Amino acid sequence: MKKVITYGTYDLFHDGHRRLLQRAKDLGDYLIVGVTTEAYDEMRGKLNVKQSLIDRIKQIQDSGLADEIIIEEYEGQKINDIQKYNIDIFAIGSDWINRFDYLKDYCSVVYLDRTKGISSTDLRNLEGILKIGIVGTGRIAKRFVPEARFVSGIDIVGAYSRNSTNCKKFVSHFELSLAAKNYNELLSSVDAVYIATPHLTHKQLALEAIRQGKHVLCEKPITLNTHCLLELIEEAKQHNVVLLEAIKTAFCPAFNRLVAYAKSGIIGDIKAVDATFTKLTNGNFRELQAEHGGGSFYELGSYPLLAILKLLGKEHCDIRMLQYKPNESEVETYSRIDIIYPHGIGSAKTGLGVKSEGDLIISGTKGYIYVPAPWWKTEYFEVRFEDTNKNRKFFYKFEGDGLRYELAYFSNMIRNKNPQAYQLTTDESKWICSIMESSYKNKCIIK
Ligand code: CTP
Repeated sequence: MKKVITYGTYDLFHDGHRRLLQRAKDLGDYLIVGVTTEAYDEMRGKLNVKQSLIDRIKQIQDSGLADEIIIEEYEGQKINDIQKYNIDIFAIGSDWINRFDYLKDYCSVVYLDRTKGISSTDLRNLEGILKIGIVGTGRIAKRFVPEARFVSGIDIVGAYSRNSTNCKKFVSHFELSLAAKNYNELLSSVDAVYIATPHLTHKQLALEAIRQGKHVLCEKPITLNTHCLLELIEEAKQHNVVLLEAIKTAFCPAFNRLVAYAKSGIIGDIKAVDATFTKLTNGNFRELQAEHGGGSFYELGSYPLLAILKLLGKEHCDIRMLQYKPNESEVETYSRIDIIYPHGIGSAKTGLGVKSEGDLIISGTKGYIYVPAPWWKTEYFEVRFEDTNKNRKFFYKFEGDGLRYELAYFSNMIRNKNPQAYQLTTDESKWICSIMESSYKNKCIIK
């Protein structure tokens, strides 16, 4: 019996899939179809898949073309499957041409012509493309546009910046269509904005967008005081639009796994979280200027606070802060914040122009988890115990700059008409903001 195997996501099962499976089946006597898991798709950067694994499998079953369906969940699995199932032919669409030639050592490899004019991406896009405008054309915005190209169903239409020369340069560099002359022009051309301007300008820009019914993805911290944030959250609720804080780690698949794993009790009760994020800076950037809400904690504190919040919760009972300031007129360049809970302590350290080990350590009553730098782009972590034989290592893939995860999440929230994010709720954003605000009010400064 000649056995054939093929793999795919098969989201929103369409004629291209059906034809591919039919031709693959015709190559032999028995067809095995491998269907990717959500986690594997996420890991290989395929975001925005609409249907669950169960639904995708069901559609293949209903097509009657597969003799057997298996699940594909890790890189390199194809080689194992081909040997395990004694496969004669590996078949795949021509969009993958030459990419699976390495399997020729195990079986014959056939590339079948892809059916023109249809794809899952096209079907997902039928729901409409989400038009996004970028506000502010600085360093982070420059990383955002290339990342956005990995998320299907969105179009970065154009940008607006107070500096029109920079805006035109940005738009032409990224081949966008609109260099808006004013903010209103941008707002009237989009469904949503990504705000990447200095912190103190966020509130006004977000407010204007929300009042015009536009969804907002806003760089962290959205505002530096809770009162302003509450106002924005309330407005977003009233206008039925999504307001999401762009703390990229919150949407990173491996970080979410790490949190779930730590909370599962594997290291016992969590007693301490130590998270550090420091950065060397050259030049007189906004983050070093007091008039722009600069300082290491405002700039970087959202990341360690996110880790502390996810692992120790919102019910803290005290905060201690130490901040180093070169002199009174300048911003702090190093901060250490201890957040005290009835059941443990979270410590956040941030530095600008000061470099330290950017790791995350989660200490528990049975063991600890170590996440090496840069932990905020989680890719790898180790669970360690007194008995080192029990230690375990976990590896994940973190694609690009990671901004694609937050953008995919943002666009899914809009499409699913779900203004409440679970990966970063408005209550969590409020908590982070309130700690930042206290850090400013209660700081103990070392000059
Ligand atoms: N396929 C095909 N013709 C199409 C679309 C897909 O022959 N028009 C084939 C692919 O080459 C692959 C299999 O169907 O062998 C599963 O592809 P999958 O990636 O699930 O489908 P796409 O529609 O290409 O999905 P997406 O748009 O998300 O990339």
